[in-house]
Amino acid sequence: MSFNTFGRVFRFTTWGESHGPAIGAVVDGCPPGLLLSEADIQPFLDKRKPGTSKFTTQRREPDDIRILSGVFEGRTTGTPISLMIENTDQRSKDYSEVAKAYRPGHADYPYDAKYGFRDYRGGGRSSARETASRVAAGAVARLVIPDVDIFAYVSEIGGDAIDPARFDAAEIGNNPFFCPDPEAAKRWEKLVDEARKDGSSLGAVVECIASGVPAGWGAPLYAKLDSELAAAMMSINAVKGVEIGDGFAAARLRGEQNADPMLPGEDGPHFLANHAGGIAGGISTGQPIRLRVAFKPTSSILIPVETVTREGAASNIVTKGRHDPCVGIRGVPVVEAMMALVLADQKLLDRAQCGER
Ligand SMILES: Cc1cc2nc3c(=O)[nH]c(=O)nc-3n(C[C@H](O)[C@H](O)[C@H](O)COP(=O)(O)O)c2cc1C
Repeated sequence: MSFNTFGRVFRFTTWGESHGPAIGAVVDGCPPGLLLSEADIQPFLDKRKPGTSKFTTQRREPDDIRILSGVFEGRTTGTPISLMIENTDQRSKDYSEVAKAYRPGHADYPYDAKYGFRDYRGGGRSSARETASRVAAGAVARLVIPDVDIFAYVSEIGGDAIDPARFDAAEIGNNPFFCPDPEAAKRWEKLVDEARKDGSSLGAVVECIASGVPAGWGAPLYAKLDSELAAAMMSINAVKGVEIGDGFAAARLRGEQNADPMLPGEDGPHFLANHAGGIAGGISTGQPIRLRVAFKPTSSILIPVETVTREGAASNIVTKGRHDPCVGIRGVPVVEAMMALVLADQKLLDRAQCGER
């Protein structure tokens, strides 16, 4: 079993390792006739690329995208779209410790337990370098859902949350944290820098909103839109929790508080609240889809952690190399990409069963 492919109608497969010559994605099932060039993909990769501030890994990769197939005269042909990004800044010697002993919290031990052999350089296939391929595929997915607006931001780092009263979407691109609250962004500079200097790391919460999704996408029961989105988000490296709408907070409300009251509207019901996060019964309600994703702190840290070697001997590991002090920051474009990939697939699935809306 391999599991490198995601989606049903709009499907993508990613390939490649952190320190191999290149990584990429093959997008299959994309409708024909869509205008597509590298320029549609590159801005999303630029948002995710490493080395843009001292708050992310100092690995420097231009992450230039190349489209190898599936596009003719600037339009998708309906055949597989092959996307490639070269790896240009590897330092495999940084991983000599990881070859010998397991990083607690990383994939080293379970990969060895399962496969008995692993490419330890940069974490190999378990490296979040793979998420660049998802971001590239996500840019193609966005072309399938032009009426859907997707954006994500960091709402919490190391337990320090934004103030919702100061939320300003225009601020998200103005700081290195994708933070909509300028005061929180200022605090986070100190917080993340201190953690980095300590050789430690911090967790983060990323929130994502998709508006413009019509009522009716999704399916009941085993392919609920909630479960598709949760699976997509949980597949991202370092994600340990997903909440749809009010999520766990809904469990602390009473029924009347958690209801999303409806009034008659011009084009379907007019909702007075959105505790459900735009999904009920596994199907979109036409309200914005809202979700929250919890990223754990980076496991590769300079503070020594007790571990065992491949031979089972007691050891301590200090992980050198260039690591993100808070992986949730660069997780923002990845969350947006997974949202786009799920929604593009859901649009095509809905059209297959119910016809054009
Ligand atoms: C954008 C992004 C960047 C990441 N960078 C690092 C990193 O520099 N060092 C590291 O140890 N983990 C990093 N991770 C997390 C690991 O890839 C992840 O923890 C590891 O594959 C184990 O998988 P799991 O945490 O999902 O269980 C990153 C994750 C994301 C989303």
